[in-house]
Amino acid sequence: MAFTPEFLDEIRARLPVSEVVGRRVKLTKKGREFAGLSPFNKEKTPSFFVNDQKGFYHCFSSGKHGDVFRFVMETEGVTFPEAVERLAGQAGLEVPKSAPQEQERFARRASLADVMDMAAKFFEAALAGQAGARARSYLDGRGLRAETRASFRLGYAPGDRHALKNHLLAQNISMDDLIETGLVVHGEDIPEPFDRFRDRIMFPIHDVRGRVIAFGGRAMQADAQAKYLNSPDTTLFHKGTVLFNHHRARPASHQAGTAIAVEGYMDVIALAQAGIAHAVAPLGTALTEGQLELLWRMGPEPILCFDGDKAGQRAAFRAVDVALPHLKPGRSLRFAFLPEGQDPDDLIKSAGRDAMEAVLAQARPLVDVLWERELEAAPADTPERRAMLEKRVNDLVRSIGDESVRRHYQAAMAEKFQIFAPPPAQLVPFRRGEKRTADKRPNLRSTVPMQASPLLRQFGQSGRIKVREAALLLCLIRHPRLFDRHAETICEVEFSSPDLVRLRAVAIDAAAHGESETRELMEAAISRAGLSAELARAEAALTPGLWWAAPKADDIDAETGFLHSLALHQKAHALNKELRAAQDALGQDLSEENFSRLADIQQQLKTVDGTEAMIEGFGAASGRPARSF
Ligand code: UTP
Ligand code: MN
Repeated sequence: MAFTPEFLDEIRARLPVSEVVGRRVKLTKKGREFAGLSPFNKEKTPSFFVNDQKGFYHCFSSGKHGDVFRFVMETEGVTFPEAVERLAGQAGLEVPKSAPQEQERFARRASLADVMDMAAKFFEAALAGQAGARARSYLDGRGLRAETRASFRLGYAPGDRHALKNHLLAQNISMDDLIETGLVVHGEDIPEPFDRFRDRIMFPIHDVRGRVIAFGGRAMQADAQAKYLNSPDTTLFHKGTVLFNHHRARPASHQAGTAIAVEGYMDVIALAQAGIAHAVAPLGTALTEGQLELLWRMGPEPILCFDGDKAGQRAAFRAVDVALPHLKPGRSLRFAFLPEGQDPDDLIKSAGRDAMEAVLAQARPLVDVLWERELEAAPADTPERRAMLEKRVNDLVRSIGDESVRRHYQAAMAEKFQIFAPPPAQLVPFRRGEKRTADKRPNLRSTVPMQASPLLRQFGQSGRIKVREAALLLCLIRHPRLFDRHAETICEVEFSSPDLVRLRAVAIDAAAHGESETRELMEAAISRAGLSAELARAEAALTPGLWWAAPKADDIDAETGFLHSLALHQKAHALNKELRAAQDALGQDLSEENFSRLADIQQQLKTVDGTEAMIEGFGAASGRPARSF
């Protein structure tokens, strides 16, 4: 029994190796691959690896290597046809043996693909010939180089209603095939079928094996009915499960470790011309589940890159909803937004590849985009409205299919809701023995957001505990006598985590009431305030390098560590502020100057991080008590 390569590919595309292998072997994610104990040899350390992107497993202890079919044959002792049959069933495909039409369908697809290839050749020739002169100068104007056009096989469909049809009929292609490939428009009320694509720049759409299965056509005429016209769904082409440039982005994504999805064909092409080869686009519709699955096969956290307009934002928001049910441990999406009014093609043209890379590097996690979308959807300035927000968020989180991801989303969202928590007891510096000055403290309540942004900024973007911030505060809590000299300083530190904000308020309050004499008094005050969990969380955030913040360090070491870390923190804080300003400036004006300013600040930030790593390393290396926490 022979299976067509198309049928086998379809099975491979639907069943990741890790899924098939995972039923037998417990796999854990290791970078881009999965590792587990060899199913072929007894072993204690995993030497069996699975690579979904490449579609194979490799066993270093036995030297065995293969795809899903080989794996089932090897582990279940079945023949190849039996393995195909089993896996076809799991992939939800009908087995050709029991359905001859299925076999026929694959054979038919192969011959239709030949017709599409002939059409692509015709369009390419037309672009190169006399009829294509205007199209060529249009593409010149858009900065597309000859080799770029050739590699994407761009073409031109002449304005004549019968050009392609007559060309293919003359080569013995049947009218049925022209109809079935969607190359001609036909119908009962249409006496003579005619070419679907006329006077358009043609973008061939390939399947994952690189065969032309459809076309997108961009109108040359500004007043054309549709700027882009795509092939209809056909035997060969199902929009929802195809990505433009998939066949070339897939190998490139193995290098990059990720894939990028942009909105337009021209964006994909501009990226490729700039050397970013792992980009794809959907086909004139919002991203579908099927397309997300394809993206995930290219890397665990593909970047969705949207145009800087309202439509781009709406598309991003839709993608959030489509993705939620399909999230898995380690598998998510990132979102990059282009500057106002720009698409990737514009950005690359005006500011170059580096500017595009900078946008991609700023991609934000799904969890943040989800939260901000909900926060901005409606005011949350009354308890009822906040409850409504909570309900919406809960409903969304419930749509997450994976139990463990769902649980972590619940936790993340609970943390985000902390922005509505009561204001800290006291934020202003105090002097020992001074009376509480509640009336002087800034009124945070009045800043509870009508709009999300100001408050989000106040707590930073994530709300997560930052190591350095935790170390600064814990150092004082564990060495409370330092409050004498440093209470004012710690008040001025902007914490990104509400946990730390609350701990600080209580600690300062306690110190003001004479409870900074001993560590025990301070701890008791924190536990009285019900913040023991917050304290534990802050401690858990510390890394061993920050030994000076631990109780065991003596007060002098603690103070030195505190001051070093504070200096770095302030430097980083100032740089981050500059970074935001530089990003805004770049958004307004994509000049060379603004870009190099941004790059310079990013470099300085790296240096700060490097210095910190050095200081931490020094502590451990110098034989100090490098405590574990
Ligand atoms: P855009 O209008 O953003 O296209 O639509 P673009 O790539 O920037 O086009 P240029 O730069 O003006 O040439 C994005 C995508 O939406 C689909 C196409 O797939 C296009 O690439 N689209 C757009 C359609 O299918 N039909 C349309 O009429 C417009
Ligand atoms: Mn464009």
